[in-house]
Amino acid sequence: MSKAIVTYFSASGVTAKAAMQLADALGCGVYEIVPKVPYTDEDLNWMNSKSRSSLEMKGGADHPELADTAADFSAYDTVFVGFPIWWYVAPTIINRFLEAYDFSGKKIILFATSGGSGFGKTAAALKKSAPAAEIVQGKLLNGMSAAEIKAWADSLGI
Ligand SMILES: Cc1cc2nc3c(=O)[nH]c(=O)nc-3n(C[C@H](O)[C@H](O)[C@H](O)COP(=O)(O)O)c2cc1C
Repeated sequence: MSKAIVTYFSASGVTAKAAMQLADALGCGVYEIVPKVPYTDEDLNWMNSKSRSSLEMKGGADHPELADTAADFSAYDTVFVGFPIWWYVAPTIINRFLEAYDFSGKKIILFATSGGSGFGKTAAALKKSAPAAEIVQGKLLNGMSAAEIKAWADSLGI
C-alpha cells in the first residue's frame, strides 16, 4: 500500500475545504502550502493587471516565497497537490513548492477548484518544476460533495 499526503494552497478557502474532504476520504494527513507573505484581497484582484497575482502569473514578478521550506515528504510516495486555478493554470506558488523539495520518483496527483476553467496546460506548466516526478492530472473538485470526493479517492486505489 502506498503512503499518501494531501498538500494544498488555498487563497480563499474553497480548495482548503476540498483538500480536507479528500484527506478524510483517504485517511491521510494534510499539509498547507503557505506563502511567506499572505495574499490580500487586492493582491487577488485579477481585474487589476498590476495586482500581485496578475504580476506573478504573467511573469512580471518572481514566484512567491514559501513560509516553510523544511517539511519532510520523504515518507510519501503519493503526494496530492491541490490549488485554485489562476489564469488557467496553477498559481506559481505551486511551482515554487515543487522546486523546494525533491519529489523524484514520486507520484504527484493534481486536484483543483476553479470558477469554471479546466486544467488546461496546468500539468505541463508544473512538469518543469518537478521533472523527475510523475505528474498526474487528477480532478477538478468544483462543487463536489464529500461523498463524490470519496468516490474519486476510492477509485484511485491508494
Ligand atoms: C488571481 C485569480 C485568478 C483566477 N483565474 C481563474 C481562471 O483562470 N479560471 C477560473 O475558472 N477561475 C479562476 N479564478 C477563480 C478561482 O480558481 C476559484 O475561485 C477557486 O475556487 C478559489 O479557490 P481558493 O478559495 O482555494 O483560493 C481565479 C481566482 C483568482 C484569485
